[in-house]
Amino acid sequence: MQQYIGLMSGTSLDGIDAVLTAFDGPQCKVIRTFYQPYPDDLKQAILALHEPDDNELERSLILSNQLARLYAQAVHSLLDGDNGKTRAIGCHGQTIRHRPDLGFTLQLNNPALLAELTNTAVVADFRTRDIAAGGQGAPLVPAFHQAVFGHPTIHRVIVNIGGISNLTNLPLDGSVTGFDCGPGNLLMDAWCHQHTGRAYDKNGEWAAGGKVNPYLLEKLLAHPFFQQHPPKSTGRDMFNSLWLEQQLSSVDDPTDVQATLAELSARSIADAIQRYCAGADEVYLCGGGAHNRVLHGRLQTLLSPIPIARADALAIPVDWVEAVAFAWLAKQTLEGKPGNLPAATGAAGLRILGAIYPA
Ligand SMILES: Nc1ncnc2c1ncn2[C@@H]1O[C@H](COP(=O)(O)OP(=O)(O)O)[C@@H](O)[C@H]1O
Ligand SMILES: [Mg+2]
Repeated sequence: MQQYIGLMSGTSLDGIDAVLTAFDGPQCKVIRTFYQPYPDDLKQAILALHEPDDNELERSLILSNQLARLYAQAVHSLLDGDNGKTRAIGCHGQTIRHRPDLGFTLQLNNPALLAELTNTAVVADFRTRDIAAGGQGAPLVPAFHQAVFGHPTIHRVIVNIGGISNLTNLPLDGSVTGFDCGPGNLLMDAWCHQHTGRAYDKNGEWAAGGKVNPYLLEKLLAHPFFQQHPPKSTGRDMFNSLWLEQQLSSVDDPTDVQATLAELSARSIADAIQRYCAGADEVYLCGGGAHNRVLHGRLQTLLSPIPIARADALAIPVDWVEAVAFAWLAKQTLEGKPGNLPAATGAAGLRILGAIYPA
């Protein structure tokens, strides 16, 4: 069985999820995991590059090198000296712009440097080929969800709650779809950091102490993205602190805003499931937002009687599903197999994704 490494660093900007996996047909085994949080200055430098500013070109290339070095460190920590069997690393990179409407998406990374530092083949830049084929370049996890979580007699929906939330619908007739639902954690994280100094609201405890503000919720849900039909994808370009500030009034209580942001994430996911996943038997949560008890509880209530479980029940712990997906996508690429799902991204057809940097 060949081993692959997946490196995921998502829109939450929390850090790097590194997994060592082995695939055997539809079975996948997580052998080892390592989490490398971003140092605060790196996170700030990435955030700053989301906005147009001076000397972006050089700053982004320098940051790409810094990221590649940190990815390599994560790989070394993950392998702990045992790298004999790894066939390739699938590395997502760090998104700083996602504008499929303008025909581009940009994930910072220096895959050549990563290959050099790890002496391992790297597959990177997964999203651009799908965009070149007319797609959104996102979400890319549905094909993986289908391969490992699909069930012949149970209609499942997989919900990944990262900075942005996305879902994969796995109906029994096989017509798998997937799309971004809206902000997952990123608005909650930004608000929590601004008011408490903490990077995120652990288990949703702060939000649990607030009351949902129905006027603010309406205003937030009025964003046109929520009414748009899939295929659709989004990112920090659309949902960010500036947009949130524009929706707030000066009298809003910070704890109630946090509760309202949690409700926004829950409602946008629940609405998407009710609208586009009719007949779902089971919903599984993954991504860091799966730890947020307010989100989990509200999804359970909004979607009752559909049971809401965590992806751990499907044998991949919630924090590692996306990283495993990028290990799988690297395997697909090396085997000359497609990684996108045109029904999810809107691409003109199946495409072999990414660029290969040989060992
Ligand atoms: N115990 C927890 N309680 C609430 N939220 C959590 C917890 N652990 C992680 N998170 C959330 O998950 C986020 C990271 O999720 P992740 O799946 O890595 O997203 P991304 O792919 O966007 O990086 C954190 O920023 C935080 O908002
Ligand atoms: Mg993350």
